[in-house]
Amino acid sequence: MKTAYRSPSVIHASYPHARPRRMRRDDFSRRMMREHTLSAADFILPVFIHDGKDSVPVPSMPGVNRLSLDDLLREAEQLMELGVPALDLFPVVPTERKDLDATEAYNPDGLVQRAIRLLKREFPALGVMTDVALDPYTVHGQDGLIDATGYVVNDETVEVLVRQSLSHAEAGADILSPSDMMDGRIGRIRAALENAGHIHTCILAYSAKYASAFYGPFRDAVGSAGNLGKGNKFTYQIDPANSDEAIRETALDIAEGADMVMVKPGLPYLDILYRVKQELRMPTFVYHVSGEYAMLAAAGRNGWLDERACALEALMSMKRAGADGILTYYAKQAATWLRESA
Ligand code: PBG
Repeated sequence: MKTAYRSPSVIHASYPHARPRRMRRDDFSRRMMREHTLSAADFILPVFIHDGKDSVPVPSMPGVNRLSLDDLLREAEQLMELGVPALDLFPVVPTERKDLDATEAYNPDGLVQRAIRLLKREFPALGVMTDVALDPYTVHGQDGLIDATGYVVNDETVEVLVRQSLSHAEAGADILSPSDMMDGRIGRIRAALENAGHIHTCILAYSAKYASAFYGPFRDAVGSAGNLGKGNKFTYQIDPANSDEAIRETALDIAEGADMVMVKPGLPYLDILYRVKQELRMPTFVYHVSGEYAMLAAAGRNGWLDERACALEALMSMKRAGADGILTYYAKQAATWLRESA
């Protein structure tokens, strides 16, 4: 690691000359020496969408709903008004549209493709990001296609991810974010986009995506938990015990053409976020995932934690660790809180 910097202050004065509390005494001096800031522009809101008429609450994520397309437009309008630069779409796909080949993933009239077109028509200035992975579309809830043993096959999956990516780009998505963790997919997607003339479509790669139990509420929200059952994603997502592997994965995605990289989850992986930013110096994002949201929302609702203060502190810790942006279910609330306290 290239963190050779050693603070010289330790060899300077000590008490009573050094009184670090001097600078903490007043609000003005605390503000003057503040190193990091949070603003609406730091956030990206993940949104769950479904084909229903009404929005439906997600039980394990109090305050979060699966939105109808009408409500999605209302949400987009609020994000624009608050100054949140982008949202990220996650579809709830009805069982009858799931199959072994995830064909619905690249249906030009699929829910995500329709939502992209609608958003870009109504709010062209709002960044539209989409998830590239097959878990909402497969009957088994895995992010890719499986062989007879249940193993997720890499290269065949990448072919489908390429078709999915092209259909999102075709519909007008600004940013594609492959969250599947297949080998080589960034390079193949980039090449396919270039060949099809989508030279401006950005890729935000989920590069350091861990096999985390904190994704539980998300899988409830998109309805893949039941399909996945007792299955896990250990053969493609990174082992939580590793960190060098995350740097290697991220370096590969950069070499393959990623414009931005991501570490996921957030709080339990701040060390990874710090290393990725320090060592690779890319636009680096972090995903404050569903389980992290659920913990704060639950404790807040029980009166055990101050949800607002804890959420803003968690988000600030990600900025401090090096994040250039944060995907968070708090995007709207946090932007609102920041505006209130400004
Ligand atoms: C699917 C995907 C997942 C998340 C984002 N994209 C779940 C998973 O990998 O099982 C998790 C997001 C969250 O927990 O908030 N590829």
